[in-house]
Amino acid sequence: MSEAMDSVVTSSDFKPETIVDAVRRAVGTPNGVLGLHEPVFAGKEIAYLEECIKSTFVSSVGPFVDRFERMLEQVTGAKRAVAVVNGTAALHACFRLAGVEPGDEVISPALTFIATTNAIAYCGATPHFVDSSLATLGMDPAALALRLEAIAERTARGTINRETGRRIAAISPMHTFGHPVALDEIAAIAHDWGIALVEDAAESLGSTYKGHAVGSRARLAALSFNGNKIVTTGGGGAILTNDEELGRRAKHLTTTAKLPHKWAFVHDEIGFNYRLPNLNAALGCAQLEQLDGFLASKRRLAAAYERVFADVPGVRFSCEPEDTTSNYWLNAVLLAEPYAERRDELGDTARAMAVSRLPVGSSASRILGSPASARAMATRCCWPPLSWLGRCPARACRPTRSSAPSARRLRSAALKPR
Ligand SMILES: Cc1ncc(COP(=O)(O)O)c(C=O)c1O
Repeated sequence: MSEAMDSVVTSSDFKPETIVDAVRRAVGTPNGVLGLHEPVFAGKEIAYLEECIKSTFVSSVGPFVDRFERMLEQVTGAKRAVAVVNGTAALHACFRLAGVEPGDEVISPALTFIATTNAIAYCGATPHFVDSSLATLGMDPAALALRLEAIAERTARGTINRETGRRIAAISPMHTFGHPVALDEIAAIAHDWGIALVEDAAESLGSTYKGHAVGSRARLAALSFNGNKIVTTGGGGAILTNDEELGRRAKHLTTTAKLPHKWAFVHDEIGFNYRLPNLNAALGCAQLEQLDGFLASKRRLAAAYERVFADVPGVRFSCEPEDTTSNYWLNAVLLAEPYAERRDELGDTARAMAVSRLPVGSSASRILGSPASARAMATRCCWPPLSWLGRCPARACRPTRSSAPSARRLRSAALKPR
């Protein structure tokens, strides 16, 4: 947030109605309730679900699970995708696969969704928060480097936090609202300190960083297909990896660690029943076939928000960082500092005007005391409706060429907002 923006406005300039009007102009709906998100089922969802039901393969085994995994590999460019029940389970499994043990620490951005923190806690580890960057909304590489220089020490046990005596087992940047984080810088720092990198890409399917789909070059990354995501399976998630052995381990760990056998149930470690059911995968296949259209629609909406908010003083629409294309999963508007104290008034006005708008809740900040930039974002940010997918003509959400989107097509669909 530029200081110039803060200095030209005062709290008395603040008119919540102006912001809500701008939202309505962008979305093109002068009246009626505007939800935060409505999923679109304009493809083969019903046909695939019917196929599942007729085949009786509705549970954790079935052809759609394999098909969904292969489609995810094609779309992201990752060598292996393993479909699981939700993004939190994907993250939990990623941390386990990265070697996070009870008593370890995992570095997480201070501004994130609670699932990131929960998955760390499920491993018996402790989150260690570093500040977020106003440029990317994600983990700030400079803050990360400074923090590690201040507290970390390389030992035979791994990299240790001198202040707590705990091992720092992983660094987990998150692509906030779909905007790719400064991945190269963070990966270089993780590499220098010998710490595993786990990408929380839950919000960012379809986003690219320096021409590559996020998660595609990661040793481990997690996706979510919750109902509010760009592509939904109802509930679902996936682990992405470029390491064949980790891919095999990911499948094993998330399918109750059962050894392959024609009839015997032999399990060689404590595993998780995290398999994505065939029904959900069927929905996911139909949704992935429409990803190009969803991305284009999200980006049109983001471009419209950028245009209307350019004329509203004291408000900044959050655009994709340089060298990236964002899927604009969630559109974020940052209020100038003097407006922060009146943000809740904006919420009340939005509700009264039938526009959903939620403040960013930084659970991480609440737990550990918030680093400055993350706190600024958490208290000054609001979310206008994040899609008009629900209202777009069905044809705009359909794929334009073959039914399976490729990483190349996915990138070409990710047009700049203006
Ligand atoms: C950043 C982040 N991580 C993890 C998750 C967890 O995904 P799920 O809701 O599918 O468990 C979500 C989303 O919902 C998320 O936004």
